Amino acid sequence: MSRVIIVGTGIAGLTAAVNLAGRHRVTLITKGRLGESNTAWAQGGIAGVIGVEDTIDSHIADTLSAGVGHCDVDAVRVLCEAGGDALATLAEAGVDFDTDPTGDWARGMEGAHSHPRIFHSGGDATGRAITAALAARLRSEVAAGRVELYEHTMLVDIITADNEPTGHGRTMLASSETPSRATGVTVLRGSRLERLAADAIVLATGGAGQLFAHTTNPLAATGDGLAAAIRAGAVVRDLEFFQFHPTALAGAGFLISEAVRGAGALLLDEQGRRFMREVDERAELAPRDVVALALHRRQAAQDGRPCFLDARAIPNVAAKFPSITAGLAEHGLDLSRDLIPISPAAHYFMGGVATDVGGRTSIDRLFAVGEAACTGVHGANRLASNSLLEGAVFAGRAATAIEAQLRRDSVIIDPDHHLPFPRFGPLPQYGSFHQTALTRTELQRLAWDHLGVERTATGLRILLDRLGEGTPDTSDGERGTTVAADRGTTISAEQLETANLALIARHMADHALAREHSLGAHTRTDAPFISSTALLQEATAC
Ligand code: SIN
Repeated sequence: MSRVIIVGTGIAGLTAAVNLAGRHRVTLITKGRLGESNTAWAQGGIAGVIGVEDTIDSHIADTLSAGVGHCDVDAVRVLCEAGGDALATLAEAGVDFDTDPTGDWARGMEGAHSHPRIFHSGGDATGRAITAALAARLRSEVAAGRVELYEHTMLVDIITADNEPTGHGRTMLASSETPSRATGVTVLRGSRLERLAADAIVLATGGAGQLFAHTTNPLAATGDGLAAAIRAGAVVRDLEFFQFHPTALAGAGFLISEAVRGAGALLLDEQGRRFMREVDERAELAPRDVVALALHRRQAAQDGRPCFLDARAIPNVAAKFPSITAGLAEHGLDLSRDLIPISPAAHYFMGGVATDVGGRTSIDRLFAVGEAACTGVHGANRLASNSLLEGAVFAGRAATAIEAQLRRDSVIIDPDHHLPFPRFGPLPQYGSFHQTALTRTELQRLAWDHLGVERTATGLRILLDRLGEGTPDTSDGERGTTVAADRGTTISAEQLETANLALIARHMADHALAREHSLGAHTRTDAPFISSTALLQEATAC
């Protein structure tokens, strides 16, 4: 039986594991406990087209428009066409979608959608419901011996045929080489580094919101899969596009779902004036990049004092949004009575490891799905509630692609393939991390200042200098400290995470410098926005 290693237990990792369990020997790795992920924190819901009032073409058009013409149109079509089936599969897995008074699934509205098509569970606990259902399925697969679960295990590096450890020091991949095939991973379990051989590897490690001083993401969102893929030489794309959610609780990062604006909440400046209509005719329900930028600028004009979300006119607001109500209560705030101070915060990485619509990366047998991947489906700005859908759809497709590849390749696999990889053998010196002298907090502050909602070439260069890189295209290891992780390593998981975030910051800054115009979530105040209409026409013409 072939072994497939899946890293990450959000919706994408769990979906891939459920699909492959029993067909292959699946090893599921997570840095925390099963199901701890960004998915579990998702509030608003999952987008999809069901019924006759809405159309797949409309969902496609909204996704392309929110993505400002930078989306891969074929990937968007795949995503939106699969929406109905993905929702049905989740319901079969046990997700209890909320219903309206007629007994149909209730549909919520969010920014830049032309129809209410957001399906939710527990009011505003959709991610928790999805995680609970899929994790329960996985636990039964683990109990039946069809899935091995490694909790508290961190991905360190991807082993490829080109960088297999030799026992005589680490082998570094020259940047011009194209790695042939992924053959395993190095992981940190407690304080032990171990190597695990695999016939296929799926990165479902989620995003990297912890790069920023203000984020809605959990502590685990440190881009470990993306960073490992970069070190292994995988092609990455669109790293300049990071989405900032407009409405995080100011100073706390606690997410207040866009669904609250979808239900009628307004945005007010510190004088209590509504201002979004002056910015965009869709006002509070304009695309997320537009609202986040407007709020960021309004806050700057108020000397840094936050704007407010006013949800007081929404009938039964506490019953509609119970999790948000409970979260705000911990801060002494009440949606039904108080104006809620809000600020944009880092939320979702549109860029990632470049993949096709089967999750295949540029490295053979290395797959990436969910937020860690970049299929091009989100373009320069993701449409609200398309992320859970992306995780479900593309992880299912990656499972199919892995199944097909392993069936085809099994004919030609060298039966000695596993021999150089004792499962828990002694670990030769292997892997290198370009460590920054910056602390995590310094890095987060710098990233917020220079890679945040507004950017300039000068700021991006300051960031690169502080990271130990004077020019965007300098290769690894020249001016920073490169640390080899070996069997007797003293590198902690936290240090590895910070090194991963620093690596991602460097690549994000490189991409942001290279895109010399503003587009979607990438706002360069020293360069104009380019016409989205022209881009959209170009994208849809082919
Ligand atoms: C939200 O509920 O506002 C977040 C959902 C998403 O990121 O699409």
